[in-house]
Amino acid sequence: METVLSGIRPTGNLHLGNYFGALRNFISMQNEHNCYFFIADYHSLTTHPTPQDLHGNVRQILVEYLAAGLDPEKSTLYVQSDVPQVIELYLFLNMNAYIGELERCTSFKDKIRQNPQNINAGLLTYPTLMAADILLHRATKVPVGKDQEQHLEMTRTFANRFNRMYNVDYFPEPQAFNFGNELIKIPGLNGSGKMGKSEGEGNAIYLADEPEAIRKKVMKAVTDSGPTMPNQEKPEVIKNIFQLMHVVSAPETFNYFDEMYNTCQIRYGDMKKQLAEDMILFTAPFREKIKEISADEAYVSRAARIGKEKAQESASKTVSEIREIIGFKKF
Ligand code: TRP
Repeated sequence: METVLSGIRPTGNLHLGNYFGALRNFISMQNEHNCYFFIADYHSLTTHPTPQDLHGNVRQILVEYLAAGLDPEKSTLYVQSDVPQVIELYLFLNMNAYIGELERCTSFKDKIRQNPQNINAGLLTYPTLMAADILLHRATKVPVGKDQEQHLEMTRTFANRFNRMYNVDYFPEPQAFNFGNELIKIPGLNGSGKMGKSEGEGNAIYLADEPEAIRKKVMKAVTDSGPTMPNQEKPEVIKNIFQLMHVVSAPETFNYFDEMYNTCQIRYGDMKKQLAEDMILFTAPFREKIKEISADEAYVSRAARIGKEKAQESASKTVSEIREIIGFKKF
């Protein structure tokens, strides 16, 4: 079985975009691969969260991933800071990561632009920590979005450089693991092409949202003044609403509104009402499960402990082999 690994940043609750874009695929990978999924809380320190926020965000993500179907018995689901072995590998990799290549990294340049008053060394070395995450379990497949492509390329560079430097064939080259045609785009509600937390208030539907919140957000979704000609091509914002309906509603419902659009009889108010109810139905099992798991302190800590133990086992093995390769010897 190949080893799959992916990290999740503990920022905000899970929304439909996360579910269809990543989580649903993680769940289906659990059976055929040796999977590691972790919550990247060390990475999140670059933005200086408060102690309460740090723990609260990690717990929320853990609960939501469990609720959505990640199985702590099948996958290794862990919190990054529960496996401090990664820090040692991070240090080793930093010794061979060049300042120039780190400075040229697009995500670092973006961060500088967005936040010029907090250009910390953790941001600069974000790619080495990410490489350490992946190489710690010698993962070969990394399911990530396009925005992580460069980090993955850097991981391959660091892995190969290590192998060459010590004349070993220790680290495999991790590759992006794309879900092929399974990849569906989930647009936001405010006309933006992508559902996401950073795209503004009201743009995303969260798995934990209460029905009333969903209704409110969906009813405010951006539309236009309606079609004026039969079978007219749909503008982007309308396509977005249809796409959302496509993923949560029954095909007949989708076809009905499509027909209404094509015959210029559509009433967006009705369509949004239907979409809201279908989203409520779709998210209901998640919402209930999230509440149930969140209230079950024993289950949450047991899941975290299982993950920690499994991840530490693999991590300790890698780190002790690396120490030996580098030349550390016991006295
Ligand atoms: N950088 C990733 C993101 O922003 C999160 C991440 C951290 C990650 N370490 C990783 C993803 C290792 C894959 C593998 O989404």
